[in-house]
Amino acid sequence: MLTQNQKNELIQRACEIRPNAYAPYSKYPVGAALLTKSGKVYTGVNVENAVFPLTNCAERSAIYTAISDGEKDFQAIAVVTENAGTPCGSCRQVLAEFGLQMLVLIAGADGHIAHEMTVSELLPKAFVPADLVR
Ligand code: THU
Repeated sequence: MLTQNQKNELIQRACEIRPNAYAPYSKYPVGAALLTKSGKVYTGVNVENAVFPLTNCAERSAIYTAISDGEKDFQAIAVVTENAGTPCGSCRQVLAEFGLQMLVLIAGADGHIAHEMTVSELLPKAFVPADLVR
């Protein structure tokens, strides 16, 4: 469980990093801040490319940075966009890899939390590592 202060701080971190997004094509900057169970925060932004499909979303940028740093236990992720848009399907699947109970906070540019849900609510009946029975 996160306190309201913890939630606000995570949203704040996502808001602060959002201007670093590289989004010249969509002009839709996204900031994400990922909180590990050990209390560390990793941020990420979307990084677009002239070859459009190569774009990396903010949520995945944050997750990959955390994984690169040896972290894989996450409590929550905050995502900030202009209009409180929700994570795309690819990001939902990547989040699901690391825990269906992770909290997802979705806010608009003003930092107001518009949606608050778990990954399992965001991606019902997710395909997860345990499904790879051999
Ligand atoms: N985007 C994200 O960063 N996260 C999402 O979950 C939704 C979409 C980015 C990708 C692209 O750079 C821009 O938003 C418009 O799709």
